[in-house]
Amino acid sequence: MRKPMVAGNWKMNGSLALVNDMGRALAGVDCSAVDVLVCPPFPYIGPLRRAVPDESGVALGGQDVSRYDSGAYTGEVAGAMLAEMGCRHVIVGHSERRAMHAETDEVVVDKVQAALRAGLTPIVCVGETLEARDAGETEQVVGRQLDAVLDLGGFVVEKLVLAYEPVWAIGTGRTASPEQAQAVHAFIRQRTADALGDELAQRFPILYGGSVKPGNARELFGCADVDGGLIGGASLDPDGFLEIISAARP
Ligand code: 13P
Repeated sequence: MRKPMVAGNWKMNGSLALVNDMGRALAGVDCSAVDVLVCPPFPYIGPLRRAVPDESGVALGGQDVSRYDSGAYTGEVAGAMLAEMGCRHVIVGHSERRAMHAETDEVVVDKVQAALRAGLTPIVCVGETLEARDAGETEQVVGRQLDAVLDLGGFVVEKLVLAYEPVWAIGTGRTASPEQAQAVHAFIRQRTADALGDELAQRFPILYGGSVKPGNARELFGCADVDGGLIGGASLDPDGFLEIISAARP
């Protein structure tokens, strides 16, 4: 049985005021049936950890990690730094980083390994553009991004969370239908089973991301192979985020 997860990706949004509001909202959240994760911008990780203490059960994560462990890499943040600030997870290979920061599959794999060296759980994002979907190339694109990670082998993949985020559904208000999401999630699980065995594939958490809102979350999370969500815009509203967490409760 896979435990659902709801993860908020604030992207480059938020403020200390939001840190405090979110802290109040999440203080008493019940994480027994749903793993709750918040990934704020780097400067807010420390303040958010103080506002939502570790004992609350709410996990924190970074939105990116350097492929290097330390050194002369101005502007980069190392996995060990995230871990020291109380993070347990880190988003890797988000489509915005793939598109705007030229992150190739090779870079994504390096970052997965860097995160694991620091003891963090990487949340690896995959997803196709609208152009690729319209060309009927969804499985080709998602398959290529997934294979880069599956090639790391079962000992690595069993430590990961995957997020399917169709690029055309991110921040557009155009959500994948539950059928569209389920079809790609089932494809990901089957490809994982083919590469690494059914037992691992059945344990592999696969989140959906792309315009998840309180109004559509329950339907999406009800799909057999959707194990929760990676939430962008709607994770900036504490009440809405709580509603989405409730929608993931089995
Ligand atoms: P939205 O929920 O704003 O569409 O963003 C999804 C996303 O990219 C989460 O990582």
